[in-house]
Amino acid sequence: MKHQTIGLFAQPLVRLQMNVNGIAEFFDSEIKSENGRVNKGGDMGDESLIHYHNDHNVFRLYDQLADLESEILKGANFVYRNVMNFDSELGITNAWFNECAIGGSQFMHNHCNAVLCGTLYLRTDEKTFIQFQNPFGISETVCNLTDLPNTKRDNPYGYHFHFPQVTCVVENGVCLFWPSYIKHGYYNNQTPGRLSLSFNLMPRSFSGLYNPYFSS
Ligand SMILES: [Fe+2]
Repeated sequence: MKHQTIGLFAQPLVRLQMNVNGIAEFFDSEIKSENGRVNKGGDMGDESLIHYHNDHNVFRLYDQLADLESEILKGANFVYRNVMNFDSELGITNAWFNECAIGGSQFMHNHCNAVLCGTLYLRTDEKTFIQFQNPFGISETVCNLTDLPNTKRDNPYGYHFHFPQVTCVVENGVCLFWPSYIKHGYYNNQTPGRLSLSFNLMPRSFSGLYNPYFSS
């Protein structure tokens, strides 16, 4: 049928390449060897996934990561101001490492205390991925009937509106940024020692009533 379709409200997922030389080795020798400040399984109880310092900011704990912090802040502010068109400057509220063994999963979640989130990949292989969930069309506050679209049948017009989530393959040095309300996760990891660094970012000043708290 002759028709016109307009895709409304696309969400940005921005991919930057960063210098991660020596970061995984630093994690192994200096951070993993410490047994304090480690949260096993996060809030999902999966012991295959260990978060290191996920209630802190690793850039305040390890001066050796200062160059990486600068690169992430530069990238985040590029995304927020030049891609998303905000004027405020972003600061990092917290940053932490995630190491996942084979078979581990991180279920779909999003982050509070942030307007922008990011993850930098430090130890990957060809099987490393992350998924993002379409924020529209899913109600989590009321019981609802379910009628799922057929994701296995190609749309005759080439549209992609029917996918509930997208899968992104990632490599070492890839840094992804996305708005904090986008849910993300992965399942049944097949990368030995899948290692990433995640971070939350907030504006350093707000035009509204409340102000953010920074750890420095
Ligand atoms: Fe996350």
